[in-house]
Amino acid sequence: MYCVFAIWSGKAEGLSIKIPYLADKQLMDLNERLQGRGVLTDLLKSQEGDPFDKGTIIPELDSSYKKNHYQYLFYVLTRMLLPKRIVEIGVLQGFSLLAMGCALKENGTGEIHAFDLFEKYEYKCDNFDDVASRVSEMELEKLVTLHQADASSVATFIEETDILHVDVSNDGQIVSEIFSQWENKTSQAMIFEGGSLERDKVQWMVEYDKKSLFDEFLELSKNEPEWHFFTIHPFPSITIAVNGKYEP
Ligand SMILES: C[S@@+](CC[C@H](N)C(=O)[O-])C[C@H]1O[C@@H](n2cnc3c(N)ncnc32)[C@H](O)[C@@H]1O
Repeated sequence: MYCVFAIWSGKAEGLSIKIPYLADKQLMDLNERLQGRGVLTDLLKSQEGDPFDKGTIIPELDSSYKKNHYQYLFYVLTRMLLPKRIVEIGVLQGFSLLAMGCALKENGTGEIHAFDLFEKYEYKCDNFDDVASRVSEMELEKLVTLHQADASSVATFIEETDILHVDVSNDGQIVSEIFSQWENKTSQAMIFEGGSLERDKVQWMVEYDKKSLFDEFLELSKNEPEWHFFTIHPFPSITIAVNGKYEP
Protein backbone atom coordinates (compact mmCIF):
# COMPACT_ATOMS: atom_id res chain seq x y z
CA MET A 1 0.00 0.00 0.00
CA TYR A 2 2.83 2.37 0.97
CA CYS A 3 4.62 1.52 -2.27
CA VAL A 4 1.58 2.32 -4.43
CA PHE A 5 1.21 5.70 -2.75
CA ALA A 6 4.91 6.48 -3.20
CA ILE A 7 4.76 5.75 -6.93
CA TRP A 8 1.59 7.78 -7.41
CA SER A 9 2.98 10.68 -5.42
CA GLY A 10 6.21 10.78 -7.44
CA LYS A 11 4.33 10.75 -10.73
CA ALA A 12 1.97 13.51 -9.65
CA GLU A 13 4.88 15.75 -8.74
CA GLY A 14 6.49 15.12 -12.11
CA LEU A 15 3.39 16.14 -14.07
CA SER A 16 3.82 19.32 -16.04
CA ILE A 17 1.02 21.40 -17.50
CA LYS A 18 0.71 22.24 -21.19
CA ILE A 19 -1.24 25.41 -21.91
CA PRO A 20 -2.90 24.81 -25.31
CA TYR A 21 -3.74 28.45 -26.08
CA LEU A 22 -0.07 29.50 -25.94
CA ALA A 23 0.02 28.75 -29.68
CA ASP A 24 -3.15 30.75 -30.44
CA LYS A 25 -2.60 33.52 -33.01
CA GLN A 26 -4.81 36.00 -31.17
CA LEU A 27 -2.98 35.36 -27.91
CA MET A 28 0.16 36.57 -29.77
CA ASP A 29 -1.75 39.70 -30.86
CA LEU A 30 -2.92 40.30 -27.31
CA ASN A 31 0.66 39.79 -26.14
CA GLU A 32 1.72 42.63 -28.44
CA ARG A 33 -1.13 44.91 -27.32
CA LEU A 34 -0.16 44.46 -23.65
CA GLN A 35 3.61 44.40 -24.05
CA GLY A 36 4.13 47.54 -21.95
CA ARG A 37 3.03 45.40 -18.99
CA GLY A 38 5.39 42.45 -19.57
CA VAL A 39 5.39 39.41 -21.84
CA LEU A 40 2.09 37.57 -21.50
CA THR A 41 3.37 34.41 -23.22
CA ASP A 42 6.46 34.18 -20.98
CA LEU A 43 4.33 34.60 -17.87
CA LEU A 44 1.99 31.85 -19.08
CA LYS A 45 4.94 29.55 -19.83
CA SER A 46 6.23 30.06 -16.31
CA GLN A 47 2.85 28.81 -15.03
CA GLU A 48 3.45 25.52 -16.91
CA GLY A 49 6.41 24.78 -14.65
CA ASP A 50 5.26 26.47 -11.45
CA PRO A 51 1.47 26.90 -11.39
CA PHE A 52 0.08 29.36 -8.87
CA ASP A 53 -2.76 26.95 -7.98
CA LYS A 54 -0.59 23.96 -7.02
CA GLY A 55 -1.87 22.59 -3.71
CA THR A 56 -5.00 24.78 -3.77
CA ILE A 57 -8.65 23.78 -4.23
CA ILE A 58 -8.84 25.51 -7.65
CA PRO A 59 -7.96 22.47 -9.83
CA GLU A 60 -10.70 20.47 -8.07
CA LEU A 61 -13.50 22.89 -8.96
CA ASP A 62 -16.01 22.33 -11.72
CA SER A 63 -15.56 24.72 -14.65
CA SER A 64 -15.68 24.64 -18.43
CA TYR A 65 -12.46 26.68 -18.28
CA LYS A 66 -10.56 23.89 -16.53
CA LYS A 67 -9.86 21.47 -19.39
CA ASN A 68 -7.76 24.03 -21.25
CA HIS A 69 -6.21 25.62 -18.15
CA TYR A 70 -7.76 29.07 -18.47
CA GLN A 71 -7.16 29.78 -14.77
CA TYR A 72 -3.61 30.69 -15.81
CA LEU A 73 -4.85 33.29 -18.30
CA PHE A 74 -7.03 34.90 -15.60
CA TYR A 75 -4.15 34.83 -13.14
CA VAL A 76 -1.52 36.22 -15.51
CA LEU A 77 -3.76 38.96 -16.93
CA THR A 78 -4.61 40.10 -13.40
CA ARG A 79 -0.92 40.11 -12.44
CA MET A 80 -0.03 42.14 -15.56
CA LEU A 81 -2.83 44.69 -15.54
CA LEU A 82 -2.71 45.38 -11.77
CA PRO A 83 -6.41 46.29 -11.63
CA LYS A 84 -7.73 48.22 -8.66
CA ARG A 85 -11.16 46.71 -9.22
CA ILE A 86 -12.47 43.61 -11.00
CA VAL A 87 -16.15 42.82 -11.49
CA GLU A 88 -17.05 39.21 -12.24
CA ILE A 89 -20.57 38.27 -13.35
CA GLY A 90 -21.09 34.48 -13.28
CA VAL A 91 -19.16 32.70 -10.53
CA LEU A 92 -20.42 29.07 -10.31
CA GLN A 93 -17.96 27.38 -7.90
CA GLY A 94 -15.39 30.17 -8.11
CA PHE A 95 -12.82 28.81 -10.60
CA SER A 96 -12.05 32.09 -12.43
CA LEU A 97 -12.87 34.16 -9.33
CA LEU A 98 -10.32 32.42 -7.10
CA ALA A 99 -7.66 32.55 -9.84
CA MET A 100 -8.04 36.33 -10.10
CA GLY A 101 -8.24 36.59 -6.30
CA CYS A 102 -4.87 34.80 -5.94
CA ALA A 103 -3.35 37.23 -8.44
CA LEU A 104 -4.69 40.26 -6.53
CA LYS A 105 -3.19 38.84 -3.35
CA GLU A 106 0.20 38.63 -5.10
CA ASN A 107 -0.28 42.14 -6.51
CA GLY A 108 -0.86 43.42 -2.97
CA THR A 109 -3.67 45.64 -4.20
CA GLY A 110 -7.15 45.48 -5.73
CA GLU A 111 -10.58 44.01 -5.03
CA ILE A 112 -13.15 41.83 -6.79
CA HIS A 113 -16.90 42.20 -6.66
CA ALA A 114 -18.43 38.93 -7.84
CA PHE A 115 -22.09 38.56 -8.83
CA ASP A 116 -24.22 35.48 -9.43
CA LEU A 117 -27.80 34.35 -8.95
CA PHE A 118 -26.34 31.39 -7.01
CA GLU A 119 -29.15 29.06 -5.84
CA LYS A 120 -31.78 31.24 -7.55
CA TYR A 121 -30.47 30.13 -10.97
CA GLU A 122 -32.62 27.33 -12.36
CA TYR A 123 -29.83 25.50 -14.21
CA LYS A 124 -26.28 24.54 -13.15
CA CYS A 125 -25.29 26.72 -10.18
CA ASP A 126 -23.72 26.66 -6.71
CA ASN A 127 -24.78 28.00 -3.30
CA PHE A 128 -23.69 31.43 -2.08
CA ASP A 129 -22.49 29.93 1.25
CA ASP A 130 -20.37 27.24 -0.40
CA VAL A 131 -18.61 29.79 -2.60
CA ALA A 132 -18.12 32.08 0.42
CA SER A 133 -16.48 29.15 2.30
CA ARG A 134 -14.05 28.61 -0.59
CA VAL A 135 -13.19 32.30 -0.61
CA SER A 136 -12.40 32.05 3.14
CA GLU A 137 -10.48 28.80 2.75
CA MET A 138 -8.24 30.57 0.21
CA GLU A 139 -7.90 33.52 2.63
CA LEU A 140 -9.28 35.92 0.05
CA GLU A 141 -12.21 37.34 2.02
CA LYS A 142 -10.60 40.78 2.32
CA LEU A 143 -10.28 41.02 -1.46
CA VAL A 144 -13.43 39.27 -2.69
CA THR A 145 -17.02 40.39 -2.07
CA LEU A 146 -19.85 38.15 -3.22
CA HIS A 147 -23.26 39.51 -4.23
CA GLN A 148 -26.45 37.69 -5.21
CA ALA A 149 -27.86 39.65 -8.14
CA ASP A 150 -28.97 39.35 -11.74
CA ALA A 151 -26.37 40.17 -14.42
CA SER A 152 -28.50 42.92 -15.94
CA SER A 153 -28.70 44.85 -12.65
CA VAL A 154 -24.99 44.95 -11.77
CA ALA A 155 -24.18 48.08 -13.80
CA THR A 156 -26.79 50.03 -11.83
CA PHE A 157 -24.79 49.80 -8.62
CA ILE A 158 -21.15 49.55 -9.75
CA GLU A 159 -19.88 52.86 -11.11
CA GLU A 160 -16.61 51.73 -12.67
CA THR A 161 -14.18 48.85 -12.95
CA ASP A 162 -10.81 48.13 -14.50
CA ILE A 163 -11.63 44.57 -15.57
CA LEU A 164 -15.05 43.03 -16.21
CA HIS A 165 -15.40 39.25 -16.59
CA VAL A 166 -18.74 37.95 -17.88
CA ASP A 167 -19.58 34.23 -17.81
CA VAL A 168 -23.34 33.72 -17.43
CA SER A 169 -24.13 31.12 -20.13
CA ASN A 170 -23.19 33.84 -22.61
CA ASP A 171 -24.87 34.28 -25.98
CA GLY A 172 -24.67 37.10 -28.53
CA GLN A 173 -27.64 38.95 -27.07
CA ILE A 174 -26.22 38.92 -23.53
CA VAL A 175 -22.84 40.15 -24.78
CA SER A 176 -24.49 42.96 -26.74
CA GLU A 177 -26.46 44.15 -23.68
CA ILE A 178 -23.57 43.85 -21.22
CA PHE A 179 -21.10 45.52 -23.58
CA SER A 180 -23.30 48.59 -23.99
CA GLN A 181 -23.90 48.80 -20.22
CA TRP A 182 -20.18 48.61 -19.41
CA GLU A 183 -18.25 50.23 -22.28
CA ASN A 184 -18.04 53.58 -20.50
CA LYS A 185 -17.43 52.02 -17.09
CA THR A 186 -14.52 49.66 -17.89
CA SER A 187 -11.05 51.20 -18.10
CA GLN A 188 -8.86 48.24 -19.11
CA ALA A 189 -10.58 45.14 -20.47
CA MET A 190 -13.80 43.15 -20.68
CA ILE A 191 -13.35 39.38 -20.70
CA PHE A 192 -16.19 37.28 -22.09
CA GLU A 193 -16.50 33.51 -22.09
CA GLY A 194 -16.98 32.35 -25.72
CA GLY A 195 -16.44 33.83 -29.15
CA SER A 196 -15.28 30.84 -31.22
CA LEU A 197 -17.42 29.09 -33.86
CA GLU A 198 -17.07 25.87 -31.85
CA ARG A 199 -18.61 27.52 -28.76
CA ASP A 200 -21.55 28.77 -30.90
CA LYS A 201 -22.38 25.14 -31.73
CA VAL A 202 -22.91 23.87 -28.18
CA GLN A 203 -26.20 22.00 -27.86
CA TRP A 204 -28.22 24.65 -25.96
CA MET A 205 -27.12 27.50 -28.26
CA VAL A 206 -28.44 25.53 -31.27
CA GLU A 207 -31.55 24.12 -29.55
CA TYR A 208 -32.72 27.52 -28.24
CA ASP A 209 -31.62 29.41 -31.37
CA LYS A 210 -29.35 31.76 -29.41
CA LYS A 211 -27.60 34.63 -31.16
CA SER A 212 -24.04 33.74 -32.22
CA LEU A 213 -21.25 35.09 -30.03
CA PHE A 214 -18.89 34.96 -33.02
CA ASP A 215 -21.21 37.26 -35.03
CA GLU A 216 -21.69 39.59 -32.08
CA PHE A 217 -17.95 40.08 -31.59
CA LEU A 218 -17.55 40.63 -35.34
CA GLU A 219 -20.22 43.37 -35.21
CA LEU A 220 -18.71 44.94 -32.11
CA SER A 221 -15.24 45.03 -33.64
CA LYS A 222 -16.69 46.88 -36.68
CA ASN A 223 -18.89 49.26 -34.70
CA GLU A 224 -16.65 49.92 -31.69
CA PRO A 225 -13.28 51.09 -33.04
CA GLU A 226 -12.25 52.21 -29.54
CA TRP A 227 -12.10 48.56 -28.47
CA HIS A 228 -9.73 45.81 -29.66
CA PHE A 229 -11.05 42.24 -29.64
CA PHE A 230 -8.97 39.08 -29.21
CA THR A 231 -10.56 35.61 -29.23
CA ILE A 232 -8.49 32.80 -27.72
CA HIS A 233 -9.81 29.63 -29.33
CA PRO A 234 -9.35 26.46 -27.25
CA PHE A 235 -12.77 25.50 -25.87
CA PRO A 236 -14.85 27.16 -24.52
CA SER A 237 -12.85 30.13 -25.93
CA ILE A 238 -12.47 33.53 -24.35
CA THR A 239 -12.83 36.94 -25.98
CA ILE A 240 -10.90 39.82 -24.47
CA ALA A 241 -11.94 43.36 -25.44
CA VAL A 242 -9.18 45.82 -24.57
CA ASN A 243 -10.14 49.48 -24.20
CA GLY A 244 -8.28 51.51 -26.83
CA LYS A 245 -7.83 54.29 -24.27
CA TYR A 246 -5.90 51.95 -22.01
CA GLU A 247 -2.16 52.49 -22.35
CA PRO A 248 -0.22 49.61 -20.76
C1 LIG B 1 -20.70 29.06 -16.64
S1 LIG B 1 -21.06 29.41 -14.99
C2 LIG B 1 -19.74 30.47 -14.46
C3 LIG B 1 -18.42 29.76 -14.43
C4 LIG B 1 -17.30 30.39 -13.68
N1 LIG B 1 -17.01 31.74 -14.12
C5 LIG B 1 -16.06 29.53 -13.76
O1 LIG B 1 -14.94 30.07 -13.75
O2 LIG B 1 -16.20 28.31 -13.77
C6 LIG B 1 -22.42 30.47 -15.15
C7 LIG B 1 -22.91 31.08 -13.85
O3 LIG B 1 -23.74 32.18 -14.21
C8 LIG B 1 -24.77 32.28 -13.28
N2 LIG B 1 -25.86 33.01 -13.96
C9 LIG B 1 -26.60 32.60 -15.02
N3 LIG B 1 -27.45 33.56 -15.41
C10 LIG B 1 -27.24 34.62 -14.58
C11 LIG B 1 -27.80 35.92 -14.49
N4 LIG B 1 -28.76 36.33 -15.33
N5 LIG B 1 -27.34 36.75 -13.51
C12 LIG B 1 -26.38 36.34 -12.65
N6 LIG B 1 -25.80 35.11 -12.70
C13 LIG B 1 -26.22 34.26 -13.65
C14 LIG B 1 -25.11 30.85 -12.90
O4 LIG B 1 -25.69 30.80 -11.61
C15 LIG B 1 -23.73 30.18 -12.97
O5 LIG B 1 -23.15 30.10 -11.69
